[in-house]
Amino acid sequence: MNNKELIDKLYKYNSLNKAELLYLLNTINNEDKNYLCEKALKTRTKYYGDKVYVRGLIEFTNFCKNNCYYCGIRCSNKNIERYRLILDKILECAEIGYELGYKTFVLQGGEDPYFTDEKIVEIIKILKEKYSDCAITLSIGEKSYDSYKKFFQAGADRYLLRHETATKEHYEKLHPENLKLINRMECLKNLKEIGYQVGAGFMVESPYQSNENLVEDLLYLKELEPHMIGIGPFIPHHDTIFKNEPTGTLEKTIIMIALTRLLLPKSLIPATTALSTINSNGREAGFNAGANVVMPNLSPTSVRSKYSLYDNKISLGDEAAECRDLIEKKIIAAGFSLDTSRGDNIAWNR
Ligand code: 5AD
Repeated sequence: MNNKELIDKLYKYNSLNKAELLYLLNTINNEDKNYLCEKALKTRTKYYGDKVYVRGLIEFTNFCKNNCYYCGIRCSNKNIERYRLILDKILECAEIGYELGYKTFVLQGGEDPYFTDEKIVEIIKILKEKYSDCAITLSIGEKSYDSYKKFFQAGADRYLLRHETATKEHYEKLHPENLKLINRMECLKNLKEIGYQVGAGFMVESPYQSNENLVEDLLYLKELEPHMIGIGPFIPHHDTIFKNEPTGTLEKTIIMIALTRLLLPKSLIPATTALSTINSNGREAGFNAGANVVMPNLSPTSVRSKYSLYDNKISLGDEAAECRDLIEKKIIAAGFSLDTSRGDNIAWNR
């Protein structure tokens, strides 16, 4: 089968086997890529029309007890200024977001021991009480089943936890020994079981990544069936051991987004900040490859530059939640429409 036939098969059945995916990734050319994106866009349109959902991202702490080798806010980086937003500040962000019309708040942070389960539960409860028509998404890393359950019972609706890479050997090259892929996968399984809408995902062209690794990511996602899938290029951070590694490319990231859309047609896929950071048209290219979510930054502007996962991370213009009109304009200019509803996965029933 040639690549065009493989893409047709993927479009029709939303499935390809390992050998087929690897062949496609190893041999895909520019013409194939355009065809792949065309099919991915058609698939996203079939399920989600031209809608782009919007989430307000509140990066509420850059303290982290982990030491992921690629990440700028890892604990051993002594060169960044740490901050955490106390409850009142988080509420202020949410209020600004609500006024702007956002109906989903994503609370993202490093794994910060200051925010005990009790504190997180309190934040969720207060937010849910004030904004019962909004979805609350957590993105605060690996926790126990019981903690996840407590947050869910307090009212959290969704949880984002990228698996980062589904290959054990590769995972070990990106993380210190205390962080294990099986724990990560167990967390994702638990989150699904508890009833969250779950987001997984991975970086594209992270150090040591092979096409075989990327195929494993796709097959893992196909099996897990998360509701959301975050895919962005790896971008080096100057205070990490990967500072001299090359940045992931727009082309490869787009291919991975399109393949993901075709394998998991109903998923919610953000055009990530990392994608916009590496290319000023990254976001639009993401939409045209099947992405259907944006997550503009709702954190106080004074802390935005401190949430430095990677170098040059953008948080202004269409990455800034306060620029809602600009965001909408650019989405419309790209041929899509902004949807500020909760934006649940269409396959999801509470
Ligand atoms: N480049 C790109 N993405 C990164 N992340 C962390 N560090 C980097 C980096 N250097 C991503 C991880 C994490 C998410 C919050 O940010 O995939 O899950």
